[in-house]
Amino acid sequence: MKNILVTGGAGFIGSNFIHYLLKNYEDICVVNLDLLTYAGNLDNLSQVCDDPRYHFAKGDIHDRALVEELFDQFAFDTVVNFAAESHVDRSITNPDIFLTTNILGTQTLLDVAKRHWKLDPDDKYSYEFKEGVKYLQVSTDEVYGALGATGMFTETTPLAPNSPYSASKASADFVVRAYNKTYGMPVNITRCSNNYGPYQFPEKLIPLMINNCLSGKNLPVYGDGMQIRDWLYVEDHCAAIATVLEKGVVGEVYNIGGNNEKANIDIVKLIINSTGKSEDLIVHVKDRPGHDRRYAIDNTKITTQLGWAPKHTFETGMASTIEWYLSHGEWMEKIVSGAYMSYYEKMYANNKL
Ligand code: NAD
Ligand code: TYD
Repeated sequence: MKNILVTGGAGFIGSNFIHYLLKNYEDICVVNLDLLTYAGNLDNLSQVCDDPRYHFAKGDIHDRALVEELFDQFAFDTVVNFAAESHVDRSITNPDIFLTTNILGTQTLLDVAKRHWKLDPDDKYSYEFKEGVKYLQVSTDEVYGALGATGMFTETTPLAPNSPYSASKASADFVVRAYNKTYGMPVNITRCSNNYGPYQFPEKLIPLMINNCLSGKNLPVYGDGMQIRDWLYVEDHCAAIATVLEKGVVGEVYNIGGNNEKANIDIVKLIINSTGKSEDLIVHVKDRPGHDRRYAIDNTKITTQLGWAPKHTFETGMASTIEWYLSHGEWMEKIVSGAYMSYYEKMYANNKL
């Protein structure tokens, strides 16, 4: 891994991953290709923007000419695809862009990488690729659908996505799989659980609740709040991706989870207690249509086969996350003073119980 294309690097996990790479690998060239949608924020990368190992290109992963140009210029040996429309609620109101970016964008990246990495791109029967190249697709546990009270997702759990977002991610996973099976493309797919940590856009549960607590706003809990997510500290996720890039067996899928199953309502109460607010702020609102009840990741494969393990407990991860948002009020202020407000008002206006 030397010349690496990180897509969606101005978003939450992608920016954390770029920080992780620049901190842990000296001899590396990182190119961040990001369209800067509402979720892309170059402030997330302000500390590294002058690092000579880092380059930014504004653009769409679905723009073949641009992706070609970047491959010609930087001769990537590694692609990590974070770029996506990532919010379930937005996918319910506006699914089209999820299919375009998440499926067709992924296929464009795969196709350009194949052309540059295949030893003889014109020989349709050849499976030979250059040494040391890899495409990694960052997927999600949501492709497996929802669990009942028991059980966990393993890598062999059948895909059964329930939202337009997870359907688009599952479709992308199938395209990645097809590039491996049909062309012999060196790929890995990682499927992680819900991430939390610095730089997360406040449309997602944890930063939204922290921001609302700090500004004394109501805390909109969907339905009974007993839905369960399996939380993963973003830095642990970044370390897991680096591990899969280095040691992952080509063609394999790896689940990444932090062994932290929590009900939403308990997270909201933890944030209330940590910020010294009152539970009176909690408002139960209408549930999300098609809301998945429970996710839980079995991470046995990556822990036993590749030797990765999460370093943060939920308690330490949440303490440093809340501390980060408390000490980065300006970062949040810039986001919530823009188009965010009209999103928030529209999203939460009509779901009162
Ligand atoms: P995010 O929404 O914070 O960031 C997405 C980034 O992609 C943004 O910077 C955006 O500008 C960029 N982008 C969107 N469309 C683009 C396009 N067409 N071309 C180039 N860039 C584009 O998302 P995130 O939370 O950082 O998630 C990153 C990846 O991880 C996604 O693929 C998501 O499906 C997956 N994932 C996220 C979580 C989570 O908890 N956040 C959990 C599981 C999987
Ligand atoms: P979210 O952060 O959107 O992630 P995902 O839907 O991908 O799991 O939501 C996490 C959980 O929190 C999910 O069960 C929905 C719930 N939720 C609320 O109860 N209220 C909110 O305002 C939001 C954004 C989420």
